[in-house]
Amino acid sequence: MKYRTLGKTGMKVSVIGIGTWQFGGEWGKNFTSDEVRQILATGRDLGINLIDTAECYGDHLSESLIGQAIAGERDKWIIATKFGHRFTGHLKRSDDRTAADMREQLEASLKALKTDYIDLYQYHSIRDSEFDNEELRDALEKEKKAGKIRHIGNSISNGIDLVHQASRSGWANVEALQLVYNRLERKAEAVFDICQQQKLGVLARVPLASGFLSGKYRRGATFQAGDVRAARTQEQIDQQLAEVERIAKEEVPPGVDMAQWALGWCLRDPVVTAVIPGCKSPEQVKANAAAAELVETIE
Ligand SMILES: NC(=O)c1ccc[n+]([C@@H]2O[C@H](COP(=O)([O-])OP(=O)(O)OC[C@H]3O[C@@H](n4cnc5c(N)ncnc54)[C@H](OP(=O)(O)O)[C@@H]3O)[C@@H](O)[C@H]2O)c1
Repeated sequence: MKYRTLGKTGMKVSVIGIGTWQFGGEWGKNFTSDEVRQILATGRDLGINLIDTAECYGDHLSESLIGQAIAGERDKWIIATKFGHRFTGHLKRSDDRTAADMREQLEASLKALKTDYIDLYQYHSIRDSEFDNEELRDALEKEKKAGKIRHIGNSISNGIDLVHQASRSGWANVEALQLVYNRLERKAEAVFDICQQQKLGVLARVPLASGFLSGKYRRGATFQAGDVRAARTQEQIDQQLAEVERIAKEEVPPGVDMAQWALGWCLRDPVVTAVIPGCKSPEQVKANAAAAELVETIE
């Protein structure tokens, strides 16, 4: 495994982390606590120390499965979680972003994770007007002083202009950003300069373009009900997969696993501290961890 320092936080994180939206049950599969334990233990044994989760991956369900799996080894992990949504049903959320909402969610996250501190507490895809709320900013700072939060991060929605929130990171005491970044979606590059100037680490989320960049899906692929990807139109799926096929032919060196290449591709620019691919099995964790070997070999 390789490690990089996450922006101003000073935390040394593995360049390959583990994304855990999947554990919330919205990817066509429910996870048992044994399955989650095996997935995380596999990552730990390969040197992975970074887990990304959120309040709304199930009603604190992903956090709760993680809390059970890492009980007794909390100090081996850097846990990033989020606030700003409430899970109200399969793929349904309400927007809960006031200072009082945040305090309530923080307590629920700490309880689910069976811990008394969060390493990186991230705003979760909130609007600019909500981000600019001084009361919320001050409430986060207070929780930091109380020791419940070590560092503040911001997972910015890909559906808005990223510049406003990225450039106001100093105002909000944000030390790291989480951005959608992968070979098919490069919008995040618009704020890489800001990240560099403000010494913000970047966590690249959706680094496999929801699994499409693994190269295992072909045009015409369909997803079962209950899988978040089933909400896409066949036209959207096929357009993306046609582009993936082109990239596989023209950019991925022969003999290199495409998923590993796609993760290594995100890490070309050192402003990207780590990728956080969602993992559904120990085998996927193993394959993704091996991508660390490709870092600095991809241009
Ligand atoms: N707003 C936010 O803050 C936000 C939004 C989205 C995601 N996130 C975070 O970012 C993480 C990553 O994004 P994501 O999970 O949406 O997308 P992703 O990482 O691009 O794709 C994950 C999917 O790719 C497939 N996969 C993973 N490793 C593989 C491998 N080695 N070989 C083949 N297939 C593989 C798995 O699905 P299949 O095997 O079923 O294909 C897995 O569910 C999330 O888990 C979450 O922690 C945050």
